[in-house]
Amino acid sequence: NLHVGVIGATGAVGVELINVMFDRNFPVGELTLFASERSAGKTMETKYGTKTIALFSVEEAKQCDIVFLAVSGDFAKEFAPQIAKGALVIDNSSAFRMDDDVPLIVPEINGALAKTAKLIANPNCTTAIAAVALWPLHQAFGLKKVIVSTYQAASGAGQPGMNELREGLAAGLEGKPVSAEVFAHPLAFNVIPHIDSFQENGYTREEMKVTWETRKIFGEPNLAVSCTAVRIPIERTHSEAIVIETEKVVTPAAAREALAKAKGVKLVDDPANNVYPMPINATKQYDVEVGRIRTNLIFGDHGLELFVAGDQLLKGAALNAVQIAEAYIA
Ligand code: HSE
Repeated sequence: NLHVGVIGATGAVGVELINVMFDRNFPVGELTLFASERSAGKTMETKYGTKTIALFSVEEAKQCDIVFLAVSGDFAKEFAPQIAKGALVIDNSSAFRMDDDVPLIVPEINGALAKTAKLIANPNCTTAIAAVALWPLHQAFGLKKVIVSTYQAASGAGQPGMNELREGLAAGLEGKPVSAEVFAHPLAFNVIPHIDSFQENGYTREEMKVTWETRKIFGEPNLAVSCTAVRIPIERTHSEAIVIETEKVVTPAAAREALAKAKGVKLVDDPANNVYPMPINATKQYDVEVGRIRTNLIFGDHGLELFVAGDQLLKGAALNAVQIAEAYIA
Protein backbone atom coordinates (compact mmCIF):
# COMPACT_ATOMS: atom_id res chain seq x y z
CA ASN A 1 0.00 0.00 0.00
CA LEU A 2 1.16 3.44 -0.91
CA HIS A 3 1.77 6.69 0.90
CA VAL A 4 -0.24 9.24 -1.07
CA GLY A 5 0.01 13.00 -0.68
CA VAL A 6 -2.53 15.52 -1.93
CA ILE A 7 -1.60 19.18 -2.22
CA GLY A 8 -4.68 21.38 -2.60
CA ALA A 9 -6.99 18.85 -0.94
CA THR A 10 -9.65 21.38 0.04
CA GLY A 11 -10.15 22.71 -3.51
CA ALA A 12 -12.81 21.46 -5.93
CA VAL A 13 -10.40 19.05 -7.65
CA GLY A 14 -8.65 17.99 -4.43
CA VAL A 15 -11.91 16.94 -2.80
CA GLU A 16 -12.79 14.80 -5.82
CA LEU A 17 -9.30 13.28 -5.93
CA ILE A 18 -9.81 11.87 -2.45
CA ASN A 19 -13.32 10.62 -3.29
CA VAL A 20 -12.16 8.95 -6.50
CA MET A 21 -9.20 7.19 -4.84
CA PHE A 22 -11.50 5.84 -2.17
CA ASP A 23 -14.26 4.79 -4.58
CA ARG A 24 -11.80 3.01 -6.89
CA ASN A 25 -10.01 1.26 -4.04
CA PHE A 26 -6.72 2.88 -4.93
CA PRO A 27 -4.18 1.17 -2.65
CA VAL A 28 -3.75 4.01 -0.16
CA GLY A 29 -1.83 2.94 2.93
CA GLU A 30 -1.30 6.42 4.29
CA LEU A 31 -2.88 9.66 3.11
CA THR A 32 -1.28 13.03 3.83
CA LEU A 33 -3.07 16.24 2.92
CA PHE A 34 -0.76 19.21 2.53
CA ALA A 35 -1.59 22.91 2.54
CA SER A 36 -0.01 26.28 3.14
CA GLU A 37 0.00 27.98 6.54
CA ARG A 38 -3.51 29.30 5.88
CA SER A 39 -5.09 25.82 6.04
CA ALA A 40 -2.45 23.73 7.83
CA GLY A 41 -3.70 22.42 11.19
CA LYS A 42 -7.35 22.53 10.12
CA THR A 43 -9.30 19.30 9.82
CA MET A 44 -11.12 17.97 6.79
CA GLU A 45 -13.81 15.30 6.60
CA THR A 46 -12.92 12.72 3.96
CA LYS A 47 -14.02 9.21 3.03
CA TYR A 48 -10.84 8.08 4.79
CA GLY A 49 -12.04 9.75 8.01
CA THR A 50 -11.22 13.10 9.57
CA LYS A 51 -7.81 14.32 8.44
CA THR A 52 -5.66 17.06 9.90
CA ILE A 53 -4.04 19.06 7.14
CA ALA A 54 -0.25 19.10 7.31
CA LEU A 55 1.93 22.11 6.57
CA PHE A 56 3.48 21.62 3.15
CA SER A 57 7.18 20.96 2.99
CA VAL A 58 9.14 19.60 0.06
CA GLU A 59 10.95 17.14 2.29
CA GLU A 60 7.72 15.69 3.70
CA ALA A 61 6.10 15.50 0.27
CA LYS A 62 9.15 13.73 -1.18
CA GLN A 63 8.65 10.93 1.35
CA CYS A 64 5.33 9.99 -0.32
CA ASP A 65 5.12 7.39 -3.09
CA ILE A 66 2.67 9.49 -5.12
CA VAL A 67 1.80 13.17 -4.79
CA PHE A 68 -1.17 14.75 -6.53
CA LEU A 69 -0.85 18.47 -7.12
CA ALA A 70 -4.20 20.26 -7.40
CA VAL A 71 -2.90 23.78 -7.01
CA SER A 72 -1.81 26.71 -9.16
CA GLY A 73 0.72 26.50 -11.94
CA ASP A 74 3.02 28.86 -10.05
CA PHE A 75 3.20 26.53 -7.06
CA ALA A 76 3.69 23.54 -9.35
CA LYS A 77 6.48 25.27 -11.28
CA GLU A 78 8.39 25.90 -8.09
CA PHE A 79 7.84 22.64 -6.20
CA ALA A 80 6.80 19.81 -8.54
CA PRO A 81 10.32 19.10 -9.89
CA GLN A 82 11.71 19.02 -6.34
CA ILE A 83 9.00 16.65 -5.06
CA ALA A 84 9.49 14.46 -8.14
CA LYS A 85 13.03 13.70 -6.92
CA GLY A 86 11.31 11.43 -4.37
CA ALA A 87 7.67 10.81 -5.28
CA LEU A 88 5.76 10.32 -8.49
CA VAL A 89 4.09 13.70 -9.08
CA ILE A 90 0.84 14.00 -11.02
CA ASP A 91 0.26 17.69 -11.66
CA ASN A 92 -3.15 19.09 -12.53
CA SER A 93 -1.89 22.53 -13.57
CA SER A 94 -0.79 23.62 -17.03
CA ALA A 95 2.77 24.36 -15.85
CA PHE A 96 4.48 21.34 -17.47
CA ARG A 97 1.91 20.02 -19.93
CA MET A 98 3.76 21.05 -23.06
CA ASP A 99 7.27 20.18 -21.83
CA ASP A 100 8.88 17.54 -24.04
CA ASP A 101 10.11 15.45 -21.13
CA VAL A 102 6.77 15.49 -19.27
CA PRO A 103 4.16 12.99 -20.46
CA LEU A 104 0.64 14.41 -20.87
CA ILE A 105 -1.65 11.49 -20.26
CA VAL A 106 -5.22 10.41 -20.85
CA PRO A 107 -4.93 6.75 -19.81
CA GLU A 108 -7.42 5.45 -22.40
CA ILE A 109 -5.08 6.84 -25.06
CA ASN A 110 -1.47 6.90 -23.89
CA GLY A 111 -1.49 5.35 -20.40
CA ALA A 112 1.70 3.39 -21.11
CA LEU A 113 3.64 6.65 -20.72
CA ALA A 114 2.81 6.62 -16.99
CA LYS A 115 5.77 4.31 -16.45
CA THR A 116 8.26 6.61 -18.14
CA ALA A 117 8.56 9.65 -15.86
CA LYS A 118 8.39 10.90 -12.27
CA LEU A 119 6.52 14.08 -13.22
CA ILE A 120 3.34 13.58 -15.22
CA ALA A 121 0.89 16.23 -16.39
CA ASN A 122 -2.88 15.87 -16.20
CA PRO A 123 -4.51 17.58 -19.19
CA ASN A 124 -6.85 20.56 -19.32
CA CYS A 125 -10.39 19.42 -18.50
CA THR A 126 -11.99 20.41 -21.82
CA THR A 127 -9.20 18.64 -23.67
CA ALA A 128 -9.40 15.40 -21.66
CA ILE A 129 -13.17 15.17 -22.21
CA ALA A 130 -12.90 15.82 -25.96
CA ALA A 131 -9.95 13.43 -26.27
CA VAL A 132 -11.84 10.48 -24.79
CA ALA A 133 -14.64 10.99 -27.31
CA LEU A 134 -12.38 11.70 -30.29
CA TRP A 135 -9.72 9.01 -29.87
CA PRO A 136 -11.91 6.04 -30.94
CA LEU A 137 -13.04 8.05 -33.95
CA HIS A 138 -9.45 8.94 -34.79
CA GLN A 139 -8.44 5.28 -34.64
CA ALA A 140 -11.33 4.15 -36.81
CA PHE A 141 -11.61 6.96 -39.34
CA GLY A 142 -8.54 9.21 -39.01
CA LEU A 143 -9.20 12.78 -37.90
CA LYS A 144 -8.30 15.54 -40.32
CA LYS A 145 -10.02 18.55 -38.77
CA VAL A 146 -11.64 19.09 -35.38
CA ILE A 147 -13.80 22.10 -34.50
CA VAL A 148 -14.92 22.36 -30.89
CA SER A 149 -17.43 24.72 -29.26
CA THR A 150 -17.60 24.42 -25.49
CA TYR A 151 -20.22 25.07 -22.81
CA GLN A 152 -18.14 25.16 -19.63
CA ALA A 153 -19.47 25.06 -16.10
CA ALA A 154 -18.59 27.52 -13.35
CA SER A 155 -16.68 24.91 -11.35
CA GLY A 156 -14.00 24.96 -14.04
CA ALA A 157 -12.89 27.98 -12.04
CA GLY A 158 -13.02 25.99 -8.80
CA GLN A 159 -15.08 26.58 -5.68
CA PRO A 160 -14.83 30.40 -6.00
CA GLY A 161 -16.45 30.13 -9.45
CA MET A 162 -19.32 28.06 -8.08
CA ASN A 163 -19.79 30.52 -5.21
CA GLU A 164 -19.85 33.51 -7.54
CA LEU A 165 -22.47 31.83 -9.74
CA ARG A 166 -24.72 30.97 -6.78
CA GLU A 167 -24.41 34.43 -5.28
CA GLY A 168 -25.01 36.00 -8.69
CA LEU A 169 -28.15 33.94 -9.30
CA ALA A 170 -29.51 34.84 -5.86
CA ALA A 171 -28.67 38.54 -6.28
CA GLY A 172 -30.14 38.64 -9.79
CA LEU A 173 -33.42 37.08 -8.64
CA GLU A 174 -33.68 39.72 -5.93
CA GLY A 175 -33.09 42.46 -8.49
CA LYS A 176 -29.70 43.33 -7.02
CA PRO A 177 -26.58 43.89 -9.14
CA VAL A 178 -24.57 40.75 -9.96
CA SER A 179 -20.87 41.11 -9.28
CA ALA A 180 -17.92 39.54 -11.14
CA GLU A 181 -14.56 38.85 -9.56
CA VAL A 182 -13.76 35.29 -10.62
CA PHE A 183 -15.17 35.68 -14.13
CA ALA A 184 -14.61 38.55 -16.57
CA HIS A 185 -18.34 39.40 -16.40
CA PRO A 186 -21.28 38.33 -14.26
CA LEU A 187 -21.98 34.70 -15.14
CA ALA A 188 -25.48 34.47 -13.70
CA PHE A 189 -28.07 35.02 -16.47
CA ASN A 190 -25.21 35.30 -18.95
CA VAL A 191 -22.88 33.39 -21.29
CA ILE A 192 -19.24 34.49 -21.51
CA PRO A 193 -17.14 33.71 -24.62
CA HIS A 194 -13.93 34.26 -22.69
CA ILE A 195 -12.06 31.71 -20.53
CA ASP A 196 -8.47 32.43 -19.45
CA SER A 197 -6.47 35.13 -21.21
CA PHE A 198 -6.60 36.29 -24.83
CA GLN A 199 -3.62 35.39 -27.03
CA GLU A 200 -2.13 37.35 -29.91
CA ASN A 201 -4.03 35.22 -32.43
CA GLY A 202 -7.40 36.19 -30.95
CA TYR A 203 -7.98 32.82 -29.31
CA THR A 204 -8.01 32.43 -25.53
CA ARG A 205 -5.48 30.26 -23.72
CA GLU A 206 -8.26 27.82 -22.81
CA GLU A 207 -9.04 27.45 -26.53
CA MET A 208 -5.40 27.01 -27.51
CA LYS A 209 -4.91 24.37 -24.82
CA VAL A 210 -7.45 22.22 -26.68
CA THR A 211 -5.32 22.54 -29.83
CA TRP A 212 -1.88 22.11 -28.21
CA GLU A 213 -2.78 19.37 -25.76
CA THR A 214 -4.91 17.27 -28.14
CA ARG A 215 -2.01 17.19 -30.59
CA LYS A 216 0.41 16.09 -27.87
CA ILE A 217 -1.88 13.42 -26.37
CA PHE A 218 -2.71 11.97 -29.81
CA GLY A 219 0.91 12.20 -30.98
CA GLU A 220 -0.36 14.17 -34.00
CA PRO A 221 1.58 17.46 -34.06
CA ASN A 222 -0.21 18.70 -37.17
CA LEU A 223 -3.81 17.80 -36.36
CA ALA A 224 -6.07 20.75 -37.23
CA VAL A 225 -7.95 21.67 -34.06
CA SER A 226 -9.85 24.90 -33.42
CA CYS A 227 -11.94 25.75 -30.35
CA THR A 228 -14.30 28.39 -29.06
CA ALA A 229 -14.54 28.12 -25.27
CA VAL A 230 -17.59 29.58 -23.54
CA ARG A 231 -18.53 29.77 -19.86
CA ILE A 232 -22.20 29.07 -19.11
CA PRO A 233 -24.12 29.51 -15.85
CA ILE A 234 -24.25 25.91 -14.67
CA GLU A 235 -22.37 24.53 -11.71
CA ARG A 236 -20.67 21.41 -12.97
CA THR A 237 -19.83 19.40 -16.12
CA HIS A 238 -18.53 20.73 -19.40
CA SER A 239 -20.35 20.11 -22.69
CA GLU A 240 -18.85 20.38 -26.15
CA ALA A 241 -20.30 20.47 -29.65
CA ILE A 242 -17.67 18.88 -31.90
CA VAL A 243 -17.42 18.81 -35.70
CA ILE A 244 -14.90 16.49 -37.32
CA GLU A 245 -13.65 15.93 -40.81
CA THR A 246 -12.22 12.44 -41.32
CA GLU A 247 -9.71 10.82 -43.66
CA LYS A 248 -11.92 7.78 -44.27
CA VAL A 249 -15.63 7.59 -45.00
CA VAL A 250 -17.61 7.67 -41.76
CA THR A 251 -21.27 6.95 -41.09
CA PRO A 252 -23.12 7.71 -37.85
CA ALA A 253 -23.73 3.96 -37.42
CA ALA A 254 -20.02 3.15 -37.77
CA ALA A 255 -19.13 5.98 -35.38
CA ARG A 256 -21.63 4.71 -32.80
CA GLU A 257 -20.12 1.24 -33.10
CA ALA A 258 -16.61 2.59 -32.48
CA LEU A 259 -17.77 4.71 -29.54
CA ALA A 260 -19.92 1.97 -27.97
CA LYS A 261 -16.86 -0.19 -27.36
CA ALA A 262 -14.52 2.65 -26.36
CA LYS A 263 -13.28 2.91 -22.79
CA GLY A 264 -14.40 5.98 -20.86
CA VAL A 265 -17.29 6.71 -23.24
CA LYS A 266 -21.00 6.26 -22.67
CA LEU A 267 -23.02 6.36 -25.86
CA VAL A 268 -26.16 8.38 -25.12
CA ASP A 269 -27.81 8.81 -28.49
CA ASP A 270 -31.52 8.26 -28.92
CA PRO A 271 -32.90 11.64 -30.05
CA ALA A 272 -36.31 10.11 -30.94
CA ASN A 273 -36.77 9.61 -27.19
CA ASN A 274 -35.11 12.93 -26.21
CA VAL A 275 -31.97 11.09 -25.12
CA TYR A 276 -28.64 12.83 -25.65
CA PRO A 277 -25.70 13.98 -23.50
CA MET A 278 -26.50 16.58 -20.84
CA PRO A 279 -24.66 17.85 -17.75
CA ILE A 280 -27.59 16.95 -15.53
CA ASN A 281 -26.91 13.26 -16.27
CA ALA A 282 -23.14 13.32 -16.82
CA THR A 283 -22.40 15.04 -13.49
CA LYS A 284 -20.64 12.74 -10.99
CA GLN A 285 -20.31 10.05 -13.68
CA TYR A 286 -16.91 8.72 -14.72
CA ASP A 287 -17.80 8.16 -18.38
CA VAL A 288 -18.02 10.97 -20.92
CA GLU A 289 -21.43 11.00 -22.59
CA VAL A 290 -21.40 11.16 -26.41
CA GLY A 291 -24.44 11.53 -28.65
CA ARG A 292 -26.32 13.62 -31.22
CA ILE A 293 -24.15 11.82 -33.77
CA ARG A 294 -25.04 12.80 -37.30
CA THR A 295 -23.49 13.35 -40.70
CA ASN A 296 -22.11 16.86 -40.95
CA LEU A 297 -23.79 18.75 -43.79
CA ILE A 298 -20.57 20.41 -44.94
CA PHE A 299 -18.11 17.48 -44.86
CA GLY A 300 -20.69 14.90 -45.98
CA ASP A 301 -19.59 11.28 -45.70
CA HIS A 302 -16.21 12.44 -44.37
CA GLY A 303 -17.65 14.37 -41.46
CA LEU A 304 -19.63 14.09 -38.25
CA GLU A 305 -21.28 16.25 -35.63
CA LEU A 306 -21.37 15.11 -32.03
CA PHE A 307 -22.32 16.45 -28.63
CA VAL A 308 -20.35 15.52 -25.55
CA ALA A 309 -20.89 16.06 -21.81
CA GLY A 310 -18.27 15.09 -19.23
CA ASP A 311 -17.79 15.89 -15.56
CA GLN A 312 -14.76 18.15 -15.74
CA LEU A 313 -13.92 17.60 -12.08
CA LEU A 314 -13.78 13.84 -12.74
CA LYS A 315 -12.64 12.78 -16.22
CA GLY A 316 -11.47 16.36 -16.72
CA ALA A 317 -9.34 16.31 -13.57
CA ALA A 318 -9.51 14.00 -10.53
CA LEU A 319 -10.53 10.75 -12.19
CA ASN A 320 -7.96 11.15 -14.95
CA ALA A 321 -5.25 11.85 -12.35
CA VAL A 322 -6.11 8.73 -10.36
CA GLN A 323 -6.23 6.67 -13.56
CA ILE A 324 -2.70 7.92 -14.33
CA ALA A 325 -1.62 6.69 -10.89
CA GLU A 326 -3.32 3.34 -11.56
CA ALA A 327 -1.45 3.04 -14.86
CA TYR A 328 1.80 3.87 -13.05
CA ILE A 329 1.42 1.09 -10.48
CA ALA A 330 -0.13 -1.46 -12.88
N1 HSE B 1 -9.72 25.70 -17.41
C1 HSE B 1 -10.90 24.94 -17.18
C2 HSE B 1 -12.07 25.83 -16.97
C3 HSE B 1 -10.72 24.07 -16.00
O1 HSE B 1 -11.86 26.98 -16.64
O2 HSE B 1 -13.20 25.37 -17.13
C4 HSE B 1 -10.13 22.74 -16.32
O3 HSE B 1 -8.92 22.77 -17.00
